[in-house]
Parts: sequence; structure tokens; C-alpha cells
Amino acid sequence: MNKITPNTIRSWKEGRRKISALTAYDFPTAKLLDESGIDLVLVGDSLGMTVLGYPDTTQVKIEDMIYHTRAVSRGVSSALLVADLPIHSYGTPELAVQNAGRLISAGADAVKLEGGQACAEQIQAITGASIPFLGHIGMLPQHVLEEGGYRRKGRTPEQRGFLIEEAKAIERSGGFAVVLELVESATAAEITRSISIPTIGIGSGTGCDGQILVFHDLVGYFPWFTPKHAKPESDVAGEIRKAARAYIERTRGDS
Ligand code: KIV
Repeated sequence: MNKITPNTIRSWKEGRRKISALTAYDFPTAKLLDESGIDLVLVGDSLGMTVLGYPDTTQVKIEDMIYHTRAVSRGVSSALLVADLPIHSYGTPELAVQNAGRLISAGADAVKLEGGQACAEQIQAITGASIPFLGHIGMLPQHVLEEGGYRRKGRTPEQRGFLIEEAKAIERSGGFAVVLELVESATAAEITRSISIPTIGIGSGTGCDGQILVFHDLVGYFPWFTPKHAKPESDVAGEIRKAARAYIERTRGDS
């Protein structure tokens, strides 16, 4: 399989194929997803919850992202590997470029941060340093504490207009694609029609150019919370519990 590049992803805007993307945080998951033919693997800062056990992403550090990006990069050969810049790691254009460079050195092909117009200088600095950039607009999990929850976006005409401008700012700043998180489906479809780079939706309907999902939500590996948009294809948590109980019984039976 040929390596997928940011240009490959961008070229699929013409409707040649929908982009499939999943998160991964470790070597075996990354290798299994890559071997399965996934187009894009994201080392998401969702690892704050799925791997590190925090209540949200606001305590994730750039060092956590570097550590997990290194592990994932050893398992990915075909998919495009994107890593998240966590909160407080891109406050200025200089800091954004510096930390984006650290993620690229750890093995990422591209980086992502949350926000559009307010982060335009940071995004331009990143793409100006020849680092491929994936945007992320809509519901921004790094802002969950300010917003007091995970709220769907793009419901009112004002929000719709704002999100279209956000997407255009990322396109103008050189992003190769943009994630739309929890955006009302009609708004997500309108954004998709309004820009020349692909949109990759999560909980944003079927009118996007591709879809992304947190791996744990796909395989049923985080049973304590499943977002509405996730339809688990398996019950990994159940399998682990079954295996652990069988092992415990077998071990106790031996004594
Ligand atoms: O951190 C993450 O996993 C993400 C996806 C939900 C898009 O940003």
C-alpha cells in the first residue's frame, strides 16, 4: 500500500472516496488499524480520557502527545499520521511551530489544533514551516471547562455563519482538511460545500467528506461513557472482563 499524504487526502475532496479516520494511542492498535486500511490515524488528545483516565483533555501535556505519537508511529506505515497539539501548547505562533516540530520529530506526518480564526496566526506559522496541518472546529473539547459541557454547534444562523468563516480561515491558512466535531448536520454539509478542502466529521452527519471516531468508542473499550454518535462494532470491554474472570477462576481453581 502506498503512503497516504496530506495531498492524497485533499485530492479526495473531488468525491473520489470518503476519508476514514480513527484515533490510536499505542503500537498494536496503530498497526492493526493500518493493516486494516484506515486512511488517517490521529493520536488525539482524547488519550487524556481513554488512556490516562482524566475527566477531559484539559490536563494533557505535549510530553504525553510526544510519548504516544512515538509508539503509534512505529505501527503506521500507510495511513497518514496526525498528532494533536494539546491545550497550552500553541499559545503563540512560535510555540505552535516549536511543539508541532516536536510532534513531527516523534513521527507524525501532520498536526492538528482546535480553533479557526482565533488561531490563524498559529496555523499560518505551522504551514509556513512546511508542517502539514489539519483543522478542528465546532465543539472544541479543550474549551469544555469554559463552556460548561460538550454542546452541539451550528444550530443558529449566527453559529452557522461563524463556523463557515472558521472553516474558510483554516483553508486560507493552508490546512489540508478540517475536522467538524458535533456540528449540526445541515451546517456540516453547508461547510463541506463552502470550502475546497475535505471535511472530516465526528457526530456531524453524513454530509462530510469523511468520518473520524475515537477508537475506544468504535470497539466498545470505554464502557463508562459512549457518545450518542458512536455505534460500537464490538464489545472489547466485555471480552476483557470475560477473559479476566476466566483467568481468575482458572488461577483460583489451581490452588
Ligand atoms: O482528540 C481526539 O480524539 C479528537 C477527535 C475526536 C477528532 O480530536
